[in-house]
Amino acid sequence: MSQAPSRTVVVLAAGEGKRMKSATPKVLQPLLGRTLLGHVLHVASAIHTDRTLVVVGHKADQVGAFLADAAPDATPVLQAEQNGTGHAVRIALDAAPELTGTVVVLSGDVPLLRPETVEALLTTHERAGAAATVLSAEVAEPGGLGRVVRDKNGHLERIVEQKDATEEERRIREINSGIYAFDAVLLREALGKLSTDNAQGEEYLTDVFGILASQGHPVAIEVAEFAYETLGCNDRAELSRLRVLMRDRINDAWMRSGVLLLDPATTWIDATVTLEADAVVEQNCKLSGTTTVARDAVIGPDTTLIDTTVAEGATVLRTHSIGARIGPEATVGPFSFLRPGTTLARKSKIGGFVEAKNAELGEGAKVPHLTYVGDATIGAKANIGAGTIFANYDGVRKSRTVVGEAAFVGSDTVLIAPVEIGPGAYVAAGSAVAQDVPAGNLGVTRAQQRNIEGWVARKRPGTVSAAAAEAADITSEQE
Ligand code: UD1
Ligand code: CA
Repeated sequence: MSQAPSRTVVVLAAGEGKRMKSATPKVLQPLLGRTLLGHVLHVASAIHTDRTLVVVGHKADQVGAFLADAAPDATPVLQAEQNGTGHAVRIALDAAPELTGTVVVLSGDVPLLRPETVEALLTTHERAGAAATVLSAEVAEPGGLGRVVRDKNGHLERIVEQKDATEEERRIREINSGIYAFDAVLLREALGKLSTDNAQGEEYLTDVFGILASQGHPVAIEVAEFAYETLGCNDRAELSRLRVLMRDRINDAWMRSGVLLLDPATTWIDATVTLEADAVVEQNCKLSGTTTVARDAVIGPDTTLIDTTVAEGATVLRTHSIGARIGPEATVGPFSFLRPGTTLARKSKIGGFVEAKNAELGEGAKVPHLTYVGDATIGAKANIGAGTIFANYDGVRKSRTVVGEAAFVGSDTVLIAPVEIGPGAYVAAGSAVAQDVPAGNLGVTRAQQRNIEGWVARKRPGTVSAAAAEAADITSEQE
């Protein structure tokens, strides 16, 4: 029985990333829904591999905890001192002494790389029967990157670091992306021959290419179709450039799949979000986490959705929502704040300046204006008047309020939980309700109104109010 040769991914993630100037290690910096390392692990899981080793070092505890949570199948390998990329891979292979087949090396700070590009690298590597294959890229400004030195036939001779390069070599614009495929056995042998006799006093992984080539082993080059995919980042300015590139790539893909984005330059969609064809996203929106948006829903302008589900035909205008489920044809906003546990059934409404938390609205239920709805169940077709407060917290406990189907709560009401308004019941405007209102009853807690005749003339003489009252009096006498 023939078996496909095994593939192992080694992700280099031990470096500190000093120039980020952050308490968070570089590889854990966030980028549109995943950490830098998270994006790289996503690539690792998308290509066919048998195992993934992640070399950790700087803040290894923090990176290890991230791995345990986000990629439990990946094996962390500790590189206690960062003596270079060659040293890092050597330590990874030492942790897997039985390893044969192909080793793919990825860099923890190159998040734009696509699985397709790694597959292309692997295809070139396998077709050439190569001992080692590097992913290179043609760039206008090679900066401090390693250069790919080719011989007169165009074959790879060696890879040279900027700091060790000659004047002439520095003019080469084909750079080393730091992404490679290797034959595991030959890689292990070559790593044993690395020296630290170079400008940085480190074991360079790149030297493996010169070693293998000089031994007569075939080494190959895959030139990346899109150079930007190989970009790493060293500081926050570079990270923000990667963020724009990733935003554009994500937005282009959604537009090509049928989503209408009215202003892609101000639309920030995490890599983890999904949208259906014919969903609409207006200007200035941020969609993140596990958010999903169904067809014909209209989001924005000026809306943030975090871990929020939006069903077909819903509209969500100028809203901040976290952890809410917005049902079909429901309407939300403008200026609404939806918090976790908010569930809106079909055609229900959350209007302007409404905050909702742990609130279930039944089909067609309406909370149109200026309301706080905390810990509540509101029945289908119920209507909650402007300025209603669901007082869910007594200073110690949170309690729930239940409003029955087609109940009507007048404006400026306080519903003091736990309390239940029965189906079809009414609550008079301005009431503070602490006792249940049975089905079909009217609950009123207001004092009776009394009018004190002539009060303004007696108590506020000479004011504009007194003058207006006197004028109204004369007019009514004339009628
Ligand atoms: C490396 C390459 C260079 C290439 C560039 C692409 C070498 C010698 N040079 O340079 O040719 O153009 O990447 O970005 O390989 N790391 C460890 N342990 C270490 C050192 C590094 O895990 O001891 C990790 C880093 O965290 C990083 C990756 O390896 O994820 C690359 O290291 P970095 O220091 O950025 O390498 P460069 O000097 O930029
Ligand atoms: Ca680098």
